[in-house]
Amino acid sequence: MKQQSCRLCKGRLQTILSLGDMPLVNYFPIEKEIGQERKYPLTLCVCRSCSLVQLDYIVSPDKIFPVYHYESGASKPLVVHLEQMVEGAITMFGLKKGSKVLDIGANDGSSLMYLKKKGMKGLGVEPGKNIVKLARERGIQMVEGFFTKKLAKTIHKKHGLFDALFATHMLANVVDLHDFMEGIKLVLAPKGVIVLEVGDVEEMIQKVQFDAIYHEHYSYFSLASLTKLLEEHGLKIVRAEKNPFHGGSIRIFAKHDGFKTQDSRFKKREGRPLGKKNYQEFAEKVGEFRKEFRAFFKKNKGKIIVGYGAPAKAVTLLNYCGIGKKEIQLIIDTTTAKQGRVMPGVHIPIVFEEKLREIKPDYCILFAWNYKKEIVPKLQRVLPKTTKIIIPHKKYTTKR
Ligand code: TMP
Ligand code: ZN
Repeated sequence: MKQQSCRLCKGRLQTILSLGDMPLVNYFPIEKEIGQERKYPLTLCVCRSCSLVQLDYIVSPDKIFPVYHYESGASKPLVVHLEQMVEGAITMFGLKKGSKVLDIGANDGSSLMYLKKKGMKGLGVEPGKNIVKLARERGIQMVEGFFTKKLAKTIHKKHGLFDALFATHMLANVVDLHDFMEGIKLVLAPKGVIVLEVGDVEEMIQKVQFDAIYHEHYSYFSLASLTKLLEEHGLKIVRAEKNPFHGGSIRIFAKHDGFKTQDSRFKKREGRPLGKKNYQEFAEKVGEFRKEFRAFFKKNKGKIIVGYGAPAKAVTLLNYCGIGKKEIQLIIDTTTAKQGRVMPGVHIPIVFEEKLREIKPDYCILFAWNYKKEIVPKLQRVLPKTTKIIIPHKKYTTKR
């Protein structure tokens, strides 16, 4: 459904970039389902009033999340990142044995496993039926559904208030931001802390990471837009950090209003606000990326080219660039749920990591480029010396 106004302030939207019609990125079809994928317009906009970057065409979350092939546990660096986040909250906000924690968008329970190890009482909320099942099999208590004000009321009735709420890389996936925040207010204990991490839109624009754009990312936050949203709901950011995760992320710690900001310098960490020129440059560079990416395959026709990693962002990148199984023979991914399936829209088969030892490609494109530090050494160990590893975006870092 096309949105007429901003999801945060109802202001007017201005188009930054249209990527055309795209399939959903976290449902990987089986052979039999090929060609049945629905495609929806994917257009990035910015609000003229509050500057929140967002999509203007909304695919209902009911179409996206109930069967979801993304598993946090499939990426070891992500598990480490989540564990470090929990450790940070323990040190800075005094979480301890017996503390009650709600993980919103808990996925397969990777954070909650660690919290449990630390003696805390964890509860997860997650809409993905198959993912909830996985988490329950790991002994994690889960509520299946989208976190809304309505669900928060039910959770509150049954479980009371929580000392900490975690919401990691999921706020972008929330359609009704105000309803979500009202839910947060309902279940957060008076002295409780919210730990929230989102992708940083400034990094996305500066580094031309257009592959972070997909239908389930309804909003793209900066520290400024995040602050505005929280403040509107009587929540105060007491600490903010930036980290390089997923190409650049913002992590904030927030409390009910009335608490003092621990870290008064955080506002200075906000870069210069993005302007029209930045968005124009971004759109142009995305077009250049497509041209050069396509030229690479033309030049290397007949060579064996494979991909490593079948993340959501590879679906955007490949579909936008129009690169499919004629150009890329297969893609390797460690996610059990994705193996034996194909890339949405472009139908490149996804195979087990073990396959790496059998293939002798000329090129291996690292689509999970956000984990390059961990994956490149692995590829160098296993692939023949003659295989060239290609990392998208490496040359696309621009300065403001
Ligand atoms: P993400 O960037 O959205 O977290 O997705 C990363 C994808 O890459 C996910 O499908 C798991 C996959 N992956 C591997 O196949 N091997 C690896 O070593 C890592 C870290 C991730
Ligand atoms: Zn707005």
